[in-house]
Amino acid sequence: MFIDSHAHYNASAFDTDREAVLLSLPENGIDAVINIGDNLAASRECLRMAEAFPFVYAAIGVHPESAGEVTSEALRHLEELAAHEKAVAIGEIGLDYYYDDVPRDVQRTAFRQQLILAKRLDMPVVVHDRDAHGDCLQILKEEGITNGVMHCFSGSVEFMREVVRLGLHIALGGVVTYKNARHIIDVAREVPLDRLLLETDCPYLSPVPNRGKRNSSLNLPYTAEKIAEIRGIDIGTLAVLTTENTRRLFNL
Ligand code: NI
Repeated sequence: MFIDSHAHYNASAFDTDREAVLLSLPENGIDAVINIGDNLAASRECLRMAEAFPFVYAAIGVHPESAGEVTSEALRHLEELAAHEKAVAIGEIGLDYYYDDVPRDVQRTAFRQQLILAKRLDMPVVVHDRDAHGDCLQILKEEGITNGVMHCFSGSVEFMREVVRLGLHIALGGVVTYKNARHIIDVAREVPLDRLLLETDCPYLSPVPNRGKRNSSLNLPYTAEKIAEIRGIDIGTLAVLTTENTRRLFNL
């Protein structure tokens, strides 16, 4: 039994069969899903899905690529949405210096404001960090964030240790199964097992053997199998540990 700690079932890739995919999860060993908002509209949509499916939970937040959306009015809306009983985190929020479509200072301000909101509401954060490790870590430290997860972790072992030292968790997904994933495999080997979460980031980043196809939580066992192999533990033990970590972090 697994929990997918990061999914985007509101994505248009699921428009034709969203309900069928979600309904198939429990019978296929997926116990729960955290559906992650990446803008205000998507966050509302995530809550609607969480209301419809008992095993679906929602994270409320604005992704760095929509950071321009984070006005004071938007922050008030986010706060209202976060009060919902199935809203379990603020996210995904963070910095993305890879695409760089949104000015970095706009991203940093939106990130900071949403961290402050999470702290005030005493909710964990789901952090997106792409090519922005230094700034991400600095802002998390400055805002005193000690509760959350760095999703689709892409840093070094040394950076992972710094993130863990803050108190945060590390989520690994399909990338760990890719041939060119050398340093993520090192992270998978070294991450403390009480800080590890599993995720798909579906519909993106399908693990091998389904790389390139639409991802769903049904692929989570491929990622788990690879990490269990790297750690030299059985997949059942990994499932129990990561499920416990996810339930504890998000208070499920
Ligand atoms: Ni995501």
